[in-house]
Amino acid sequence: MTKKNKKILVIHGPNLNLLGKREVSVYGKVNLAAINKQLKKLADELGVSLDIKQSNHEGEIVDLIGKAPKKYSAILINPAAYTHTSVAIRDAVAAVSVPTVEVHLSNIYSREEFRHTSLISSVAKGQICGFGIESYILGLRASATFAK
Ligand code: DQA
Repeated sequence: MTKKNKKILVIHGPNLNLLGKREVSVYGKVNLAAINKQLKKLADELGVSLDIKQSNHEGEIVDLIGKAPKKYSAILINPAAYTHTSVAIRDAVAAVSVPTVEVHLSNIYSREEFRHTSLISSVAKGQICGFGIESYILGLRASATFAK
């Protein structure tokens, strides 16, 4: 597979559809459409294609990950609140042999203690957090680099 054929699945987890209006002091004013626009621009530069999904539902995210091996060379995911709670999403990432990069806008380690644990990071290729929209940009670069 040449680099041009590589397809990356981007998954935005719960409440990220509210970015721009939600806890602006933590997440900033940037909304999801603006993040997606920047990701698509970078994807063009990197010569990869993207499918971008947002879901507030754990099972839906599990299904997206489970079906990923058929179509995708890498997954870029912000599991949002499910980062800290979802054994099901963790197990889905572990089950598929698709390199998965975990990103967060905020630095989860400098926030409330319940955010300090990521159930996803031990099965992810790596994690990038704390850089706002730049976490996604760096995450997409990593996803494209490690895509199968
Ligand atoms: C988040 C951090 C999570 O703790 C939180 O539940 C989110 C967003 C981030 O991008 O900083 O919804 O994943």
